[in-house]
This record gives sequence, structure tokens and C-alpha cells, in this order.
Amino acid sequence: MRVAVIGSGSWGSAFARLLARRGHDVEVLALTREEAAQLQATRENPHFLPGVRLPQEIRFTGMEDADLAPAELIVYAVPTQAVREVARWVAPRRSGGALQLSLAKGYEIGSLKRPTQVIEEETGAGAAALSGPNHAEEVSKDMPSATVVACTDEAVAVELQSQITSDTFRVYTNDDVVGVEFCGAVKNPIAVAVGMSDGLGFGDNSRASLITRSVAEMTRLGMIQGAHIATFTGLAGIGDLIATCTSRHSRNRLAGELLARGASPAEVERQVGQVVEGLHTAVALHDLATRLDIEMPVTENVYQVLAGNRTPQECVAVLMGRTPKKERHDGV
Ligand SMILES: NC(=O)c1ccc[n+]([C@@H]2O[C@H](COP(=O)([O-])OP(=O)(O)OC[C@H]3O[C@@H](n4cnc5c(N)ncnc54)[C@H](O)[C@@H]3O)[C@@H](O)[C@H]2O)c1
Repeated sequence: MRVAVIGSGSWGSAFARLLARRGHDVEVLALTREEAAQLQATRENPHFLPGVRLPQEIRFTGMEDADLAPAELIVYAVPTQAVREVARWVAPRRSGGALQLSLAKGYEIGSLKRPTQVIEEETGAGAAALSGPNHAEEVSKDMPSATVVACTDEAVAVELQSQITSDTFRVYTNDDVVGVEFCGAVKNPIAVAVGMSDGLGFGDNSRASLITRSVAEMTRLGMIQGAHIATFTGLAGIGDLIATCTSRHSRNRLAGELLARGASPAEVERQVGQVVEGLHTAVALHDLATRLDIEMPVTENVYQVLAGNRTPQECVAVLMGRTPKKERHDGV
């Protein structure tokens, strides 16, 4: 299959490598011609994916030189807030039958739309979403993991499953696109909250309590959005939540630690040097939850820290001081 992977960051590089290993004809489209030339010459991506050799078969091209017409699959491996711009660029260049796959995890600020909704709006064609516990650092070292490809068109999901599955990357299909994209987005601000807890010096009990209560608020908002409850216990739900909240690779968790040590959100993204989706998704989720009048205590506290209204320490007092509740996990 001829594949164009747009975005030469961490996940774009790792995913391109995965597809090249599967025997696909892969071209990675980098933001600039200079970046593409560097990747083409060195076969390494030291800023985004250090220590990984990128196979000789992958071609790297700057977006200004790219020809999308031969691509049978177009992969969006860019930050959520860049998806609209990229899809707008793709629209007049793609051939009619090309499949589209989003790897982005987040909600567009302002429109509060999911990446596949944005892609469909801009290109006039549907897109599938891939999501799961898949840190690029591990996938690129062929450590086994599983993922979900979600698409409303089951035939497309099955086709992508068969094209992507490998001996180290097991793909499941799912028809709950809303739930898969929702879970992929919401776990990032939650990982920021967990990172804050770690950064404040708290331990395993605090982390587990935060993660578990986050599942309750995730379910609450997700069900109203139309997500299927089973998705929350799947790979894109609890699977990705565990990976993101507990991993040393998680830049969202790291961002929380840095915030707890007093860094500003801008300093955090500068220090991490890559997109930290949770910082943007927290803003979108604050707007979404406010609009729908849904209580999201963990996510809301992350938003208040980012907005400069509360310190992480003050969030602890707010969360622990909430009125006593009955524990329920049925989306209420
Ligand atoms: N890194 C992971 O392990 C991982 C795993 C699963 C999903 N994701 C998701 O994939 C998406 C991308 O993440 P990443 O880790 O690769 O980010 P990254 O910061 O490592 O790389 C982002 C890439 O997108 C490019 N880019 C930014 N704006 C662009 C634009 N307007 N046009 C073209 N290219 C543009 C950047 O140049 C960079 O190459 C995010 O939504 C993330 O949540 C990441």
C-alpha cells in the first residue's frame, strides 16, 4: 500500500517505521524541505525519536514538494490543533479513493471537534482513528503492544487492521469512533493531573485514586457525547489511561510534574520540546464540560492551574474538600 504519513515527529516517525516494516511503500511528509533532507540523509530523528534508526525504504519529503495523488492511505500524525490546517492542505491534493487515518489525540479548541470530524469537514471524506497504549518510544523498538482502529465504516476498519497489524503491533477494530477519540483526548489532562500529584511528592495511593476517579468523570462526559461504555474499559480507554498516567515516556505526566514545581504552561512546552496535548485538551474540555454542565473535577482543576487561577497544592484541597459522594461508575 502507498502511504503518506504527514508529520515527522515522534509518533509519525515510529508509525512510518512500523508500516515500512510491514512492507508498505511509505513516504513521510515533514513540515519543511530542510527537515526532510536531514531525515533522508541521516535516517535518524534525534529531537523527536532519539536512538531509532529509520529504515532505508522510507522516503522523506517536505510538504511543499509532496505529491499526495498516489497515496492510498493518508495518515495524520500531527498535533490536534494542526489537523485542520493539514486537512485543508490535503483536500485538493488527495485522490478520491484514498483512506484517511488520524493518530491525533485531542479536541480542537474553539470548535470542540474531534480530529476525524475536522478531517471530514475539510476533505469531505471520512477518516478512521487509531488509539491505544502506544508510546512511540516503545513501538519504535518493536516492543509488543495493541491498539484500536475505529471507523464508522466497518470494511475500512477491517482493511486498516489487516494493513497495519504486525508481529509486534496488534490491531483491534472498533465502531465507536466517538468513544475512542474521546478517551484518547481525555486521558492527557488526566495524566497532567497525575504528574502534578507525583511532582508534589505524593505516592501510589494518590495516583491510583486520581486515575480511578478520572475514569468516573471520563465516563460521565463521554456517555453524553455518545461514547459506548465498553470503550472505556478497552485499549483506547483504560489501556491508554494506564500507559499515559504511569509511564516515564508520558510527556503529559512529565508536564504535570513540571507544573507542580512551579513552571508555567509555556515553559513546560518549551522544556518538553514537543506537543503536550493535555495542556490544550484541558482548555477544550473545560469549554465542553461547561457547555454541557457536566462535573469534571480532575480535568477542571488542571484547567484552573493552566489558567493561573490555582496552584497544584490548592487543587488538592479543592478535590479532597468536595462534598461526600456515593461511588458510581455507570456514567452518572
Ligand atoms: N508520541 C506518541 O507516543 C504518540 C502516541 C499516540 C498518539 N500520539 C498523538 O499523535 C499526535 C502527534 O504526536 P507526536 O508525539 O508525534 O508529536 P511531536 O510533537 O513529536 O511531532 C509533531 C509533528 O507534527 C509536525 N507539525 C506540527 N504542526 C504541523 C503542521 N501544521 N503541518 C505539518 N506538520 C506539523 C511537527 O513538525 C512535528 O514533526 C498527537 O496528537 C499525539 O497525542 C502520540
